Amino acid sequence: MLSTDIGVDLGTSNVLISVRGKGIVVNQPSVVAYEVSTKKVIAIGTKAKKMIGKTPENIEVVRPLNKGVISDYTIAEIMLKAFIRSAMEKRSGVGRPRICVCVPSGVTEVQRRAVEEAVYKTGAKTVYVMEEPLAAAVGANVDIYEAKGNMVVDIGGGTTDIAVVSLGGAVESSSIKYAGDDYNNALIKYARRKYNLLIGYQTAENAKIAVGSVVKRDEDIEYVIKGRDLIKGLPKAVTITANETVDAFEETTEHILGAIHNVLETAPPELVADIAVSGIVLTGGGSLIYGMDRIIKERTGIEAYVSEKALEAVALGAGMSVNLSDKKED
Ligand SMILES: Nc1ncnc2c1ncn2[C@@H]1O[C@H](COP(=O)(O)OP(=O)(O)OP(=O)(O)O)[C@@H](O)[C@H]1O
Ligand SMILES: [Mg+2]
Repeated sequence: MLSTDIGVDLGTSNVLISVRGKGIVVNQPSVVAYEVSTKKVIAIGTKAKKMIGKTPENIEVVRPLNKGVISDYTIAEIMLKAFIRSAMEKRSGVGRPRICVCVPSGVTEVQRRAVEEAVYKTGAKTVYVMEEPLAAAVGANVDIYEAKGNMVVDIGGGTTDIAVVSLGGAVESSSIKYAGDDYNNALIKYARRKYNLLIGYQTAENAKIAVGSVVKRDEDIEYVIKGRDLIKGLPKAVTITANETVDAFEETTEHILGAIHNVLETAPPELVADIAVSGIVLTGGGSLIYGMDRIIKERTGIEAYVSEKALEAVALGAGMSVNLSDKKED
């Protein structure tokens, strides 16, 4: 019987790899650092991410994926090779592996093929390409084979993927280029406008994870952000509150809510009726922002749940579900 050996979530922010029988064996930021003059790669993953915003001129730190698709093919290939090699060491089977990799729904054929080829070059025997929300659904323990509508919303770093699944396939889906990382940028913009404070990307992400919210909290909490005063040019610290971030985040949140609404509006009515009963499953790191489930419920009238495995669902799902995806044997 055919089944995958390795499931890869090649995400904009993180690469996660699952190995059959072992669970998640690789969980690393999609970041690579290299020496500009020699093009020599000096760090991949966590180590490279720590260098962001702190490098001298001769070192460049890049994210080879942008909005869910490969933007720097050479670097993406190097990164994937390193991660898949490390996953292979944890695998008990022998021989070249069957690998299932995910792409956002609605990518072009060229983008899809770029991902497929990059994974192929890591030494895979077979490469399967699967739509991200379908993998997310499987990884979040949704029975996608039922003749019943289920909705999954995967809010990643670069894209939000929304799908209504039934009978093993996505009946209606949508992918928008607004997701978790846009909340970081929203905070950077907000700090600049409101406090004349220039903050770095990592500071913004830390603040978002610590206090960022999409609904107001009964008990507001504070967080100190540090950066440079844009007028004085000197270091400055400002205390922001969780409830302030709700306003800063509003635009991004509205894009996501609008896209969910559109999918509900166009999906077949029988399936929408099922979703009204079963609820909306949320996955991806962006779904962990405080209040995301609540605001989706408030605006759709449908119960929304954050999956227990929000960050791992896509990689786990990819590792479990080969029969659903396109197949290419060499
Ligand atoms: N606890 C948390 N609270 C809020 N945001 C979080 C949390 N943990 C991670 N994130 C955010 O989730 C995003 C990354 O999520 P995820 O790993 O699902 O994305 P990805 O799969 O790499 O991206 P994509 O699916 O768009 O290609 C980042 O924007 C990160 O800041
Ligand atoms: Mg993802």
